[in-house]
Parts: sequence; structure tokens; C-alpha cells
Amino acid sequence: MKLLGTMSVNELGHLEIGGCDTINLAYKYGTPLYVMDGKWVKTQCTLFKNGFKGQHAETEVIYASKAFLNIAMCQLIKEQGLSLDVVSGGELFTAMKADFPAHKIYFHGNNKTVEELIMALNYGIQQIVVDHEMEIDMLQYLCSEMNKHVDVLVRINPGIEAHTHEYIQTANLDSKFGISTEKEDLCQIISSIRESYYLHLRGFHYHIGSQITEVSSFTKAADVMTDFLLKVKTLCGFETEVLNMGGGFGVYYSEGDQAPDLTIFLPEMVESVEKLCQTKGIRLPKLLIEPGRAIVANAGTTLYKVGATKLTAGGKNYVFVDGGMADNPRTALYDAVYEAALANRMEDPLDTTYTVAGKCCESGDILIKSIELPRAQRNDFLAIASTGAYNYSMASHYNRLRNPAVVLVENGNSKVIVKRETYEDLIKNDCL
Ligand code: LLP
Repeated sequence: MKLLGTMSVNELGHLEIGGCDTINLAYKYGTPLYVMDGKWVKTQCTLFKNGFKGQHAETEVIYASKAFLNIAMCQLIKEQGLSLDVVSGGELFTAMKADFPAHKIYFHGNNKTVEELIMALNYGIQQIVVDHEMEIDMLQYLCSEMNKHVDVLVRINPGIEAHTHEYIQTANLDSKFGISTEKEDLCQIISSIRESYYLHLRGFHYHIGSQITEVSSFTKAADVMTDFLLKVKTLCGFETEVLNMGGGFGVYYSEGDQAPDLTIFLPEMVESVEKLCQTKGIRLPKLLIEPGRAIVANAGTTLYKVGATKLTAGGKNYVFVDGGMADNPRTALYDAVYEAALANRMEDPLDTTYTVAGKCCESGDILIKSIELPRAQRNDFLAIASTGAYNYSMASHYNRLRNPAVVLVENGNSKVIVKRETYEDLIKNDCL
């Protein structure tokens, strides 16, 4: 397992993260346990803030909260000076409870409900990314009823097929997100916003997918979108002030993954848009990006306790852990590949090939299809790395498993930022 962030191996042969012995964490807080490396999150925030800069463009980095969100995380993002992207009343409510500044929140989503829009307007959200014409009408109506003014970005689908799993592509022609660059009544849509007293059209948003490791997909999208900005200027007479280029920056999960070097790629990304705008004769807009995974994925490690091993008649060697697809559905959903290690025996030889399975009642409850580990014993601790993004946020209660706790570690200190659910929590909404 590649040691990421502040991971190290201590003199006991145990995995340490943020200066904390993970075995102590497992005993203290129980398992499964999501461990978040605070320093790594901060490092990534700084990398994005410093890297996403150019010669001329004004820039802003927005954290895509769907990757991992709770009140402590909101506070951390606030301290780091990033803005926040929310896509639901729940994410918005969390941000509100963390006193996240309303003017730094962007509200996304392809089907925001009336209640969610009202909640956003009441909280004073200034920027709404609208997905389609019906939403524009609804927002216009609500703003006039509530006498609120908001800035609007229109989500555009540039029709790019990003090189990633099809479930996390978002900009192919049949995607449910956004308005196509080719839409016939585009100028009418733009005018309907521009003519509104309450809505202020600032520009456009696009997002081509997630876990994209080939930078050419981003470059192609920027080219298509600057063509679009030119078209909008020429045909509809609208000059874009803001261009939000979405998230999707791929990260390292397992051997063979080539994550883009962001220290190089981010400034290049800004520079390429600066050049494209200059060549195409369009005003350089303010540039926004929305990384989620790249900020938190490698910061997270899940600790599990080994319950048993089993060799099947077919020759498959299982190691069973006390969590599974309920705390990490990504292997089952996207064929994600993770690295892992026995956290209490980091220096033992990797002599056995295992399939890591969880405790859910489903054959697809696999966390890792094949991994080399030391011969595992009952009560060993298994650490799966890079689980910081889309694990906690996609956790379920399948089989009525309780959601694990989340602990933030840094400089030898650990702090619970989300408590482990209790059995009482599981039944608290059940009615007789
Ligand atoms: N902006 C928009 C509009 C998005 O839809 C997303 C992710 C992001 C930003 C952040 O993308 P990131 O930088 O995290 O790649 N559950 C899937 C990922 C779904 C991503 C959805 N949208 C997974 O576990 O891989």
C-alpha cells in the first residue's frame, strides 16, 4: 500500500496517520472507522488555491461538498478560504449550521425543489447554477415573490466524453445535466434571464465527469466551452463574466493510476483558457473550479477489524471485515480499486492473496477484489486507503449497519468529527 499524506509506519510496525497510531485509534473509537488526515486536506486546499492562478484571470476554488461533508469539514473549508458547492437542502443545511458565508456558496442540482430554492434564497445564497429552463422560470417566480436578487450561472453540457467510468461521466449528449451547447433556443434562454429584474446572468458552468486522469479531456472541454462563449457573444450578444469549469480531477487509488500533477496542471489550465479567450477574441471571464475528490480522497483511510478468513471450494481466499458496501459502495458501483494493508503488521511479508469482503448480505459486498496481504488473523486491523471521498457521503444503512464514526487526525491528536451511529439512531424515525 502506497503511504499517502502523513501516513508512516512506527516502531511497532503499525500504520500511523497524522502522528496517531491507527491501532490505538481503532481501540479507542472502534471499527469501522473513517480516519481523515487533516494536514492532507489543508495541503490540497493550499495546492488548489495557489495553483489555480494565471497571469490575467481572476480565479476562485470551490470545494464540491458532495465528496465529504459535515460541520467540521465545512469549518475546515471555511478556514482554508475556499468556497462551497452544495446540491441539496441537506448539504445547504450543514453549511448553514457551520455558519458558512452565504455569498461563498454555489447551489447546484438538476432538480432543486421549491423548498430547497426557498431555503437557499432565505439563507442569502448569491449564486445559483441553474440546470434547465423550468428551473429558470421557477427561480424567477420565487425571487419575485420573495423580492430577492440572485446571480445565475447556467449549466452547459459541452458534449464531451471524459475518460472515466460511464456512471461518473456527466457531459455526454444524453447526460441529465445541463443545457446542450447546441440547443436551438439558447439565445431565448439567455434573454429570459437577462430580462429578469431579479436574476443576474453571470455566466456558465460545466463539469465533464469525475476521476478524470487524462488532462486532454479538460483541455478539450475548455476549447469547446470557449467556442461556446464566442457563439453566445456573437449570436446572443452576451459576454460571459464567469466560467465555472467544474471538478473531476483524478486521484491515485491504486498502482497504475496516473493522477495529474496539479501543481503543473492547474496553472496550465488557467493559462490555456487565457490563451483561448485571447485567440477567439472574447473577454476573459473569472474562472472557477470545483474539486471534491482531489481535496479529500487521499486524506481518508478506513480501519476495519478482521473477523475471519475463508478459503472457498473454488479456491478464493476471503478476508472478512466488519464493514463493507454500506460504508464504501464504490467497488460495487464503479469497480473502484483500492489499496490496503494490515495496519497492525505493516512490516510482515505480503504472502497471501485475498478478496476483501464485508459483512453485508450480498455477494457483491466486496471492497477489494484482489490484494496481497500478510496471512490475516482474526482481530487484525485492515486499513483501506484513499476512502476520503464518496465513502462517508455515500454510506448507507444496508442491513441496518450503523454508519461509522469519522475521526480527524493531525499532529498526534485525534478528534471525533462525526459520532458512530447507535442502534437507537437507527430506529429513531421508526413509527409504531
Ligand atoms: N462539480 C459538479 C457539478 C459535480 O457534479 C461534481 C461531482 C463535482 C464538481 C466534483 O467532482 P470531483 O472533483 O469530486 O470529481 N460518486 C462518484 C462521484 C460522483 C461525482 C459527482 N459529481 C464516485 O464515487 O466516484
